[in-house]
Amino acid sequence: MQVAVMCRQKKIRSADSLDFDEIDVIAHNPATGATCWFQAVGKSETPVNGVHLVSPTAPAPGAVWNEPQATAKDGCGACHDAGPFMYSPFVGQVWNVMPVDPFGPYFHVDPDRFGFSGWLTVALSPRDNTCLGCHRIGVGETCGQLTRWMSGSEIPPGADAVAQRYPLSHGMPPALDQTLQSWDEIYAASVAEIRSCCQRPDQASCNRTKIAASPHG
Ligand code: HEC
Ligand code: HEC
Repeated sequence: MQVAVMCRQKKIRSADSLDFDEIDVIAHNPATGATCWFQAVGKSETPVNGVHLVSPTAPAPGAVWNEPQATAKDGCGACHDAGPFMYSPFVGQVWNVMPVDPFGPYFHVDPDRFGFSGWLTVALSPRDNTCLGCHRIGVGETCGQLTRWMSGSEIPPGADAVAQRYPLSHGMPPALDQTLQSWDEIYAASVAEIRSCCQRPDQASCNRTKIAASPHG
């Protein structure tokens, strides 16, 4: 199993605080593609304490973990659409300890019972696209806002002057080491193709395909 836990603080606390506003867990089996989602959400006066946390799969997980139906409603899969684990420059700081499975099978466990069937696992696979060498691009946020943010087409809110300029304006590929001119040469047409496929995924050249739900298809 590959398991990733994200402890999110949405307001500023002291640096050593282990109180969180949200704790998210992804558990993924790279051999079968099976993926489970867990979410604990704190209230403004009672954040989730990251020290005394019962496992979401314990017999009595406590009130802090959402029921699967509530997690399904929160739409994790709208962003985690190309595979279980996502990159951003933020999580990129600890990328050496993160699990990855960019091309493995991927499906949500028990989709119809809890509502995870609404999370599309569908990829855009136009041929000879230089953005598709390291991972898939999903039809949700990955091809939308995230591609625009990662390619300098749109600057995320809050970016300072340095983050607005190349190279930090371009999150992809990670640790890029070329000039903006070579970046454009290699990737600009591919980004344009992804953005066009995102808007109209039924174009034949976009090669829209369901991500394999198991190693056997
Ligand atoms: C708006 C898009 C979006 C939604 C919705 C979303 N995530 Fe994420 N998630 C991200 C991004 C982007 C990252 C990479 C780290 C970062 O920048 O926050 C990430 C990272 C994570 C990580 C750390 C491992 C990794 O993939 O890097 C976990 C665990 C996680 N998300 C779980 C969840 C769960 C559970 C939900 C639903 C309750 C959820 N996410 C909803 C965008 C999203
Ligand atoms: C050299 C390898 C490489 C290339 C080339 C590359 N990426 Fe990525 N990209 C990554 C890795 C690694 C991740 C983390 C995803 C994973 O491991 O499944 C990622 C993640 C992403 C994400 C976040 C969504 C997610 O699932 O994590 C977007 C959006 C993205 N890439 C867009 C692009 C675009 C657009 C291009 C072309 C300009 C591109 N990438 C080219 C390595 C690459």
